[in-house]
Amino acid sequence: MAQIIDGKKISLEIKDEVKKEVETLAKKSINPCLAVILVGENPASLVYVRNKKKACEYVGIKSLSYELSSGTTEKELLDLIDSLNKNPECNGILVQLPLPKHINEDKVLLSISPEKDVDGFHPFNVGLLSIGNAVLKACTPAGCIELIKRSGIDISGKKCAVLGRSNIVGKPVSMLLTAENATVTLCHSKTKDIINETKNADIIIAAVGKPKFLKGDMISDGAVIIDVGINRMENGKLCGDVNFDECEKKASFITPVPGGVGPMTIAMLMKNCVLACKSQNKI
Ligand code: GUN
Repeated sequence: MAQIIDGKKISLEIKDEVKKEVETLAKKSINPCLAVILVGENPASLVYVRNKKKACEYVGIKSLSYELSSGTTEKELLDLIDSLNKNPECNGILVQLPLPKHINEDKVLLSISPEKDVDGFHPFNVGLLSIGNAVLKACTPAGCIELIKRSGIDISGKKCAVLGRSNIVGKPVSMLLTAENATVTLCHSKTKDIINETKNADIIIAAVGKPKFLKGDMISDGAVIIDVGINRMENGKLCGDVNFDECEKKASFITPVPGGVGPMTIAMLMKNCVLACKSQNKI
């Protein structure tokens, strides 16, 4: 039976570390501040944004909240981001995705000043990630790496299969694993014989957005399984991209859903806010 990786516990450890750092900065009259922008009323986004603001409160980061109506124009959003880019009190800017269809997401992400891009989605920060020099790393991928490391698992030299090639998880987590000296195979919907790749992997990161995609017979004994998926089933319950019951029997370590990767994203966001603040204050 696999050891369950407790993302709630590890994320709390990280938030407590961030809290201490915020207290230290406060002694120098430096107070990190995050602007959270939500456009429209996507129910999942409302929950995420509420949790992000709650985490700010917990660690002592000031949060500025902008809840804009779904009719907000692209120009209005870009103007708000421009004013936050210029505001020295604001260290981080987060625009919750997805945005309404009439707003160009790429244009919005590009408009955020890279040093305030606490989501790590700006192409400049993605570029730094690809050359192994990123300060602000995408939160969910960075959270996956922390879960592995803080569980005492050595990544160096391991064979990793990443399932899914999205810009917000699959691609960046592949780069982070590569920076940790893993040998990475990035699998996607056109990959031939995906079972061959997953069976051959020491570590599997599942981020395909398909409920229970990774089955027990697709993994080898002792594999480490990190489940990034959050899917809502017909009965209202959440499930991941991994068939937990099957994989738990063969894996050495596995993350649950909920309570695995999910809480790590916000913890890493808090960490990024402090990193951004320190870098802007030349600390
Ligand atoms: N929507 C889903 N995940 C994320 C995330 O990590 N950041 C933002 N800004 N929006 C999201």
